[in-house]
Amino acid sequence: MESPSNGRGQWGSRIGFIMAAAGSAIGLGNIWRFPYTTGQNGGGAFVLLYLLCTVFIGLAVMWAELAIGRAAQRSPVGAFKALAPGSAWKLVGYLGIITGIGILSYYGVVAGWTVGYLIYSASGSLDTVIPTIHLTDPAVHMESAHASNFFGAFVANSKLQILFLVVFMGLTMVVVLGGVRKGIERLTKILMPLLLVMLVGLIINGMLQPKAMAGLRFYLWPDFDKVTGMTFVYALGQAFFSLSLGMGAMLTYGSYMRKSDNLATSGIYVVIFDTVIALMAGFMIFPILGGAPTSAGPGLVFVVLTQQFQAMPAGNIVAIIFFSLLAIAALTSTVSLLEVVTSFLVDDLKMKRPGAVLLSGTGIALLGIPSALSLGGVKWLSNLYTLDGKGQGFLDLMNFIFGNVLLAVGALGICLFVVLRWKPKNAIEEIATGAPWFRKLRTVWVVALAVLCPLAVLGLLAYMAITGKALG
Ligand code: PFF
Repeated sequence: MESPSNGRGQWGSRIGFIMAAAGSAIGLGNIWRFPYTTGQNGGGAFVLLYLLCTVFIGLAVMWAELAIGRAAQRSPVGAFKALAPGSAWKLVGYLGIITGIGILSYYGVVAGWTVGYLIYSASGSLDTVIPTIHLTDPAVHMESAHASNFFGAFVANSKLQILFLVVFMGLTMVVVLGGVRKGIERLTKILMPLLLVMLVGLIINGMLQPKAMAGLRFYLWPDFDKVTGMTFVYALGQAFFSLSLGMGAMLTYGSYMRKSDNLATSGIYVVIFDTVIALMAGFMIFPILGGAPTSAGPGLVFVVLTQQFQAMPAGNIVAIIFFSLLAIAALTSTVSLLEVVTSFLVDDLKMKRPGAVLLSGTGIALLGIPSALSLGGVKWLSNLYTLDGKGQGFLDLMNFIFGNVLLAVGALGICLFVVLRWKPKNAIEEIATGAPWFRKLRTVWVVALAVLCPLAVLGLLAYMAITGKALG
């Protein structure tokens, strides 16, 4: 980033912005959350709904957030205050901060798993627990008891869960403090393409598995009998979550863009990268799985992949590389989450940056503890309610409330702000500086913001209220 005359940082180049925004978007949402949510929601039909939500709603909200950020040149709360002084619109900014805190608290737990699995792969301890199997044997089920028992024991170990949560939050704080940001940016430029290559390799591996076709069928064939209102709730939530939308993260990143930057095309690139990586993660998992997952919820990717790595030649090395990449992808996302909270404390509460990072980082790590204990560590936290006959814990609840519902509510707030208060004309001018062709999209964009997004979000809230289905 460079510092222009107003003293605010700015991206050094357009590619710098795209890499950072893609770094925020691409993370556990793509590789951990997308496959298991697809698995839980019936496969192909969910994928189709997710894609529709991404293209028709996600992209529109992405442009809205980037435009608000760049126009206001401020963090979320400050941006709404600057563009709508003295109004209640700043509540949308506050909601974003709260949502960011909620998401990071449990995201940090799952990010900790990547470090745990990295250590287990490097130390060879997976070898002793998970026996090598022969994948050509069609009787082998990829959610083998060994790998899932290993996962179950790992996540139920309270001490380890808290340890890895703390480790990951510590790493995130170091980066947000600015210490290694430059390094991380340089690193992501190499690691993201490497992640892509790795996914391609694992997809090819998956396609060679005996039940690959059945897996692909589950993943791609829309079975509309399985669609309920909740499928839509999860699909929309997944679209926002994966694109880091609805809480001001992209707004913050947009605030560091230059007026001459092409915000419209940059937004499209980020959406394409993010969606392609999520779809690839599905192509990696479902052919191996050979159909609908039978048990694994949030453990799906960890269970299926560790079993798979055990069966590959040089699988340990592959595992080490894979979990390192996943940890870095998660880190670039946790950094953006913590950045939103930190920039609020610095800009609006006038705290010093180190104090702000320390306060938000430790506070969120503490908030993460109930999630860390909710996968078997503490019984009642692990079984708060039932969904489709399966017990759900605190982490699942956080994931649903913050990662689905509040992101959707935040996105609605952002759409309504552009339509009712800032006015589409101003927003379009902001985007068209640097991308004049965007004016042609005026009608489509406004329809997405004024009609599609509100209908979708209000529709899903009404559905949950009426059916009382929210939690199962
Ligand atoms: N988009 C990230 C992922 O897919 O892993 C998660 C995320 C980051 C959500 C930042 C929201 C956010 F503001």
